[in-house]
Order: sequence, then C-alpha cells, then structure tokens
Amino acid sequence: MAGVAVRADARTQSSGAPAVQDRFASNPLFQPLREFGYDGLEAWAWDNYKPTILAFASQACLRRGKPARLIEIGGGRDPLFTPEEALSKGIAVTVNDIDANELAQAPQAFQRAQFDVAGDLERQGAVTGVYDLIVSRMVLEHVVDVPRAWANMRALLAPGGVALAFVPTLYAPPFLINKSIPEAVSARLLRTFFPRRHAGIQPKFPARYEWCFGDQRKLEPMLAAAGFSQTLVLPFWTHGYFRRLPLLREMDSAVQHLARARDWRGLTTYAYVLVRK
Ligand SMILES: C[S@@+](CC[C@H](N)C(=O)[O-])C[C@H]1O[C@@H](n2cnc3c(N)ncnc32)[C@H](O)[C@@H]1O
Repeated sequence: MAGVAVRADARTQSSGAPAVQDRFASNPLFQPLREFGYDGLEAWAWDNYKPTILAFASQACLRRGKPARLIEIGGGRDPLFTPEEALSKGIAVTVNDIDANELAQAPQAFQRAQFDVAGDLERQGAVTGVYDLIVSRMVLEHVVDVPRAWANMRALLAPGGVALAFVPTLYAPPFLINKSIPEAVSARLLRTFFPRRHAGIQPKFPARYEWCFGDQRKLEPMLAAAGFSQTLVLPFWTHGYFRRLPLLREMDSAVQHLARARDWRGLTTYAYVLVRK
C-alpha cells in the first residue's frame, strides 16, 4: 500500500509542485508513455519497461502494416519477451549477445545474432538498417566503448527506428561502490546479499558504467554525435540494494526521495535512454 500511496502522490503532487511526469511532457519520445503514470521510482522502471517497448512496437507495427522488427541487445539466456508474447504482440524478435553460451540458451523460436554491440558490425556479419526497435536491459553498463555501441545501434536501426536502453546509473551509491571495488569482492557481496545472482542462474558480468547517467544534458552531445535526431533520458530514483542494512537503508531512502522531488539527476539509480534515428 505504501508504494501505491507514493505513486498517487507522484501524479497529483498535493504540494502543488508539478507532477514528475510533467518534466517530460513536451518530449516527443515521451508521448507513447504518457498514460503509464511515470513517477520516477525504480519500481515503475521495472514494471513498465516491457509496456514501454510494446507501445513503440505497436507504433512501428501500425506504420509498417507488418510485425515490428526488434533486436534485443544482450538478451542472452533471458530475453524480455517469450516467443508467445512476441507472436501475440506482432513483434519479430532477434536476440543478440556477445557470448555464444548465453545466446545458445535463448528460445529456439527467436532469430539469434552473436556480435559485440560496440564492435565492428560489418566484420561480425550484423545486419544493418533493418530494425524498428533496439532494446536492452542491464547491458550497456558492461560495454566497453559505449559511444561506439550507440553509433552501431543507429546503424542497425531502420530510418525512424527507436532504440531504448534500461541502465543502472552513476552516481547511485550501490553502483559507485560496485565500480570502485574489485570484481571478486563485489561478486562475493552480491552472492551474500542476493543469493539468486550466482553463476548458473543470473551471473554477474563486470560492470563499468561508461556513459551510464540519468542526466540528459550529459548524454545528449554523445548521442547527437552518434547521429540521433531525438533523445529522452528518463530518470529513476530509489533502489533495493540496502534493504538488508537498517539505518543506511532509511538514510539512503530519504536522500533518494529528496533527489526525486528536487530532480537531482546526479543521484539517479536507473534510467531509460531513448533515441530515434
Ligand atoms: C547482466 S546480463 C543482462 C541480461 C538480460 N538483458 C537481463 O536483463 O537479464 C548482460 C548481458 O549482456 C551481454 N553483453 C555484455 N556485453 C555485451 C556486448 N558488448 N554486446 C552484446 N552483448 C553484451 C552479456 O553476455 C549478458 O548476456
């Protein structure tokens, strides 16, 4: 119930302050999301990533009169959609991953494309200029040379196509900590606090957080240089990493809610990065 109360507050803002989603009302890439009640909280980000993708897919499907062609970067063993969902929503899915073992575990019904999103696309045999949608979830923080990854995504897109990346962002304390400490230590901490994230179920890949920011002003020059005509960086605050650490959890949560109310982009925890070719 507490979550519902916070979300309602985000929409009505009884304080008289503008609703969080009003910050983005004029951005054309926000239009397909405007009925989803964006509130700037992490929970919304996880709950609404698939609906957001579906909103763009249905636009592409309508425009083409054929299934929307979607490639999921770093989809590996756990792509966002099941083959049944993709079929029912009119989406032709290709799953990409850099790692052959990950890709081998993707559903057989999907097309597969093994390549490094930040590598030489031609040399890797990637098909360019054909996708209406490129999506990724928790991938770009692992990529070396993110500006090249975005330029490559532009090359993979069909004209007017949209790319969306759901990324953890700096300078959220858990990700700053993860970035600063050796990989072996952070992997051990993750195994202690989140036992489900061990190799074999949801392995941890080294995270670098190159260009993982919730501040549009920081990302825009890089994305414009990659050739995108429209950009939206949708920020989120709050996270669950300190949930087993009383006191720190409460202090961090207070700061996070203040950051959300004041729109402090330097403290976001996650972001959707959306661009149109
Ligand atoms: C943390 S997992 C996320 C998997 C899935 N997207 C999810 O949300 O559960 C990161 C995935 O990205 C893949 N990956 C990492 N770097 C990549 C790159 N440069 N190009 C393509 N895939 C990459 C990894 O092999 C792995 O499957």
